[in-house]
Amino acid sequence: MCGIVGYVGAKPVVSVLLDGLKRLEYRGYDSAGLAVVADGQLELRRASGKLYNLEAVIQRAPLTGSYGIGHTRWATHGRPTEENAHPHRDASGRVVVVHNGIIENYLSLKRALEREGHTFVTQTDTEVIAHLIGKYWQAGLGLADAVRQAIAELSGMFALAVISADEPDVIVAARFGPPVIVGLGQGENFVASDVTAILQHTREVVFLEDGQVAVVRPSEVTFTDFAGRPVTPPVQRVTWDPVLAEKGGFKHFMLKEIHEQPHAIRETLAGRVSLDEGRVYLDPTDIPDADWQAFTRLVIPACGTSWHAALVGKVLIEELARLPVEVDYASEFRYRNPLLDERTLVVVITQSGETADTLAALREAKQRGCHTFAICNVPGSMAAREAHGVLLTHAGPEISVASTKAFTSQIVALYLLALHLGQCRGTLSPTAVMKHVEQLLALPVKLEAALEQDAAIAELSREFFRASDFLYLGRGVNFPIALEGALKLKEISYIHAEGFPAGEMKHGPNALIDERLPVVMVMPREVGHAASELRYEKTLSNLQEVKARDGRVIAIVTEGDTEAAGLAEYVIPIPATSELLSAVLAVVPLQLLAYHIAVRRGCDVDQPRNLAKSVTVE
Ligand code: G6P
Repeated sequence: MCGIVGYVGAKPVVSVLLDGLKRLEYRGYDSAGLAVVADGQLELRRASGKLYNLEAVIQRAPLTGSYGIGHTRWATHGRPTEENAHPHRDASGRVVVVHNGIIENYLSLKRALEREGHTFVTQTDTEVIAHLIGKYWQAGLGLADAVRQAIAELSGMFALAVISADEPDVIVAARFGPPVIVGLGQGENFVASDVTAILQHTREVVFLEDGQVAVVRPSEVTFTDFAGRPVTPPVQRVTWDPVLAEKGGFKHFMLKEIHEQPHAIRETLAGRVSLDEGRVYLDPTDIPDADWQAFTRLVIPACGTSWHAALVGKVLIEELARLPVEVDYASEFRYRNPLLDERTLVVVITQSGETADTLAALREAKQRGCHTFAICNVPGSMAAREAHGVLLTHAGPEISVASTKAFTSQIVALYLLALHLGQCRGTLSPTAVMKHVEQLLALPVKLEAALEQDAAIAELSREFFRASDFLYLGRGVNFPIALEGALKLKEISYIHAEGFPAGEMKHGPNALIDERLPVVMVMPREVGHAASELRYEKTLSNLQEVKARDGRVIAIVTEGDTEAAGLAEYVIPIPATSELLSAVLAVVPLQLLAYHIAVRRGCDVDQPRNLAKSVTVE
């Protein structure tokens, strides 16, 4: 959602800020702004809508400076107008603030400040923070002390960056909730809400902990807690390649990320599997070995695409480790009274590690004494830091709002978790693990083969891009893939799409079928695997039912499958693999289909309307 970038150093500050904001666009926003200081003069530029509006404002009224802060805003309190855009000023107009998060007590603070004579020009909670900081600053405190004094009165969540025209070359940043990252350079330093904003300048970063403040100057950064006591958070090196956050010749980030899936899976597997020993190795966790053996149940709360990965994970873990798994929407889990005990492992799946509902679920589980485990793509994110164990998917930065490479990496991570649990619980022998590992290691090459269908799918999209509805059907591990295919299409092309277990058609979806309805049937088969063959046969009869009602079938099948090919109007082959791993391959044509249809419809593929990459509010 919102994004923050701050810079203090010798480079032209406006271009560093604008460039950083561009790299944060993917998070979703509806207005933007920046503030810089030159020779004691503070200047603001803000605009509603996309960043090019802000750039146009700056072109009409150029500005320069030696330090500054910028922001992309996703409206929560107040409409996405220019006046509500950040930065916000204090009463003196000499202090400005950018803020991610929500201040819960802003109304009572506002009323109190109004009684003291403050006048507010916006409806935002952020303006209240600015006034509060300004009040303490005018009372004679330095900027950092004023910030610390003000945040003691805030309740809610905040990532803040603050500058004053009267304290040259200083940015004060504070964190309680949403991430704040300090990027360390030579004679220059950065503040950001997300490493992608500063990756092209530095890989040395400090992830502020909750309750910490950073005072950032060109050649020095000091850290304290909210009470002003010095702290020394560790400096970390981000291994993400900055090139991964560029489009690299692809028309959209989404297409690039779809094509990065073989690499993402290789990276996610690297160093975690041993063919020699028939073992998988998770990164060390705070969960004792004995507890891994003693879990009686897993609960997986997640949102969106990660929730679909969780449904795939349920099949994998129940099959390989013979442990019951319950999958929950994180937004439901946190407001229920879930049944949890110390033998339940709560696994959260979150690409960003920031999704508010998923984090709340994680905290709820910890509070109830459960061990927690996070499958997460962003090192240093809140989920990665708070869970007792973490399995980082090494997919690299995912910029497109619609998740693709993070999803397939999550499935592979869940597969590793399932094998680990199977090892611990003795449901899998080393020989059995070895077979699974072999199949996992073969996956990237098969993904490359699946991606070869790109051009054919682009062609197919011509046929279907005008459809108003789509149905996606699948069974077993491919039922969540049907859901994910439907989600991808609706997210980026705005076509209504639904996914169902193929066997549920007769209980409702059949009524929708007519000659205008495209039905995507996800039906790979594992030859020689009795349960898989059975599911395949059943789905084949569902295909016939759709045909009998004149529905238009696009079937995703294992290459060499002639039965489905003889019945479906269009067939997209994927390489043969085990049924469990077919989910990773089968989703690829669905991602490509959604992508090409959205492109043909002229949609904003990477930043679909009304959606954000990480949903840091409820
Ligand atoms: C947003 C994104 C989705 C994502 C979901 C969960 O809705 O647009 O692509 O699947 O959040 O995000 P997470 O970071 O927790 O996986």
